[in-house]
Amino acid sequence: MTSPNLSARTIIPFIANIFERRGSESYLGEAVTMSEHMLQSAVLAEGAGADENLVAAALLHDVGRAGELGPGPAFRPTPAGRLLGHVQLGLRLVEERPAGLDRRARAELLHAIAPHHDARGARTAEAAVLYHANQLDAVAATRPVDEP
Ligand SMILES: [Fe+2]
Repeated sequence: MTSPNLSARTIIPFIANIFERRGSESYLGEAVTMSEHMLQSAVLAEGAGADENLVAAALLHDVGRAGELGPGPAFRPTPAGRLLGHVQLGLRLVEERPAGLDRRARAELLHAIAPHHDARGARTAEAAVLYHANQLDAVAATRPVDEP
């Protein structure tokens, strides 16, 4: 994933570009797209009263998928994706491009993203909320919808 050095002015267009390029792809074969999954997680976090940093973490938690997987329909892992996985690739994206975040906010953002598949790794309430928001969205995406 090639990306420019980001600033507070360019971070939103950069993220929007990722969503535009890859967001409409199925989320790992599920009924939701990658964009829907990340947006739904952010909405769940916001609904739980999360602060801006956690909502941003929920929005970005799977951004590393764009570098982990090649284009659909095969979605083959890239070499970096195979070796590092989407969590590490996403952390690198955020860590290398702080976009005006102060050190504490960046650390909290990184920490919220890092354990989003491992509740035991969550050291803050925000990270635990993101873990559960991600799990809730994944469960909701795979449950059959009851017909009325
Ligand atoms: Fe993930």
